[in-house]
Amino acid sequence: MRAPAYRNISLEDALREAEERYIVANPKSRARHVDAARHLPGGNTRSILFYPPFPVTMVRGDGARLFDLDGHAYLDFLGEYTAGLYGHSHPAIQAAVERALKSGITLGAPNTYEAELAELICARFASCDMVRFCNSGTESNLNALSAARALTGRTHILVFDGAYHGGMLSFAHGPSPANIPFPYVFGRYNDIEGTLEQIERHAGELAAILVEPMMGAGGCIPGEPQFLQGLRDAATRHGIILIFDEVMTSRLSPGGLQAMLGITPDMTTFGKYLGGGMSFGAFGGREAIMRRFDPSQPDALPHSGTYNNNVLSMAAGVAGLSTVFTSDVASALTETGEALKARLNALGERHGVPVQVTGIGSILCMHFQHEPIHQPQDTEHTPAEARALFHLEMLARGIYTARRGFVALSLPLTNEDYDAFVDAFDDVLVANGPALTA
Ligand SMILES: Cc1ncc(COP(=O)(O)O)c(C=O)c1O
Repeated sequence: MRAPAYRNISLEDALREAEERYIVANPKSRARHVDAARHLPGGNTRSILFYPPFPVTMVRGDGARLFDLDGHAYLDFLGEYTAGLYGHSHPAIQAAVERALKSGITLGAPNTYEAELAELICARFASCDMVRFCNSGTESNLNALSAARALTGRTHILVFDGAYHGGMLSFAHGPSPANIPFPYVFGRYNDIEGTLEQIERHAGELAAILVEPMMGAGGCIPGEPQFLQGLRDAATRHGIILIFDEVMTSRLSPGGLQAMLGITPDMTTFGKYLGGGMSFGAFGGREAIMRRFDPSQPDALPHSGTYNNNVLSMAAGVAGLSTVFTSDVASALTETGEALKARLNALGERHGVPVQVTGIGSILCMHFQHEPIHQPQDTEHTPAEARALFHLEMLARGIYTARRGFVALSLPLTNEDYDAFVDAFDDVLVANGPALTA
């Protein structure tokens, strides 16, 4: 049965009422949050996971389902911000991790998995003759940037307003005070003319251009082909190392978004699902670049990290990429996401509510605005209250997404699950149409 439209008149009232319902429905998560705040600032140890009034605490995941402390079940449409591609209990991943666990997990030596994972990754991604592993996407980018600076003998990094490349490389609302203090030059995403001016102005000092071929955290904004090709050409012209951050987007085709675009960067950074759900990062590139890390060479660039080759990530990564997320499966998931995006956008039109779902394939973002989106700044037409209302209302209907409207699909989701998402979205638009339209 459809929910009647709430009696709300304004977005603020609708959000306040949704928060009241949420607080009543989640007493145990609330108590846990209050208790956690005694020793964790804000009850939190990962900023993105906080949202007001307090986040739900998850106690278990199974397939594509999550279960919280208050006994609610959710369909997981967040997919751990793309790291959860395989879901919560994939038998191939579980078996690989159990096997690795039984053979010892802190070997302090090269293990039998790491070269296999390197081969699998290099076979997939055209820009990578060689890779090295680390522990997170943030580290991947830091390593790639440091390598670019060392290789070129230059200092500056071109990044884009609104981009997110990790906790210490965040440019979401201007540069974060927690950022690594590289000298940065800023471009506007999808603005090739303005960016080329910046590149020409700083050509002699630019070591690298760091760019996501689709901005993920910035609002799932695809890079326009002429923009990315323009960066490619300018980087070649000026001897700047072009780095594609494919921490999120590498899942969008068998060869990542670079293969869909037909543009090959000098280096690529990875993370998230490629470790099978374990902590993971990797950076790779042409042999001429990556050879500089060969520790048998006297001028080798150092790249250390106790857990760089940790056996659980390596083993889970190998199992995932070789037996589960095959090329066919990667292509099929992108098609599934495109179909979902079309259904959601159609619902907005049907209800006359300003809905715009952006993204590619299995990485999507909900915006509540008609204004076109080419740059992160364009998403500011969606009020923060609309994102919060959508998030709480989907939670109330058993659908787990991110506060900012971000959705990442995972392999165990079924057609029934996609229907459930569409039904919940439909219901949310009916119930909150007036507030979201006002
Ligand atoms: C594009 C991109 N780069 C880098 C990172 C950082 O990865 P990690 O959280 O593993 O450090 C993220 C994380 O969301 C990301 O989306």
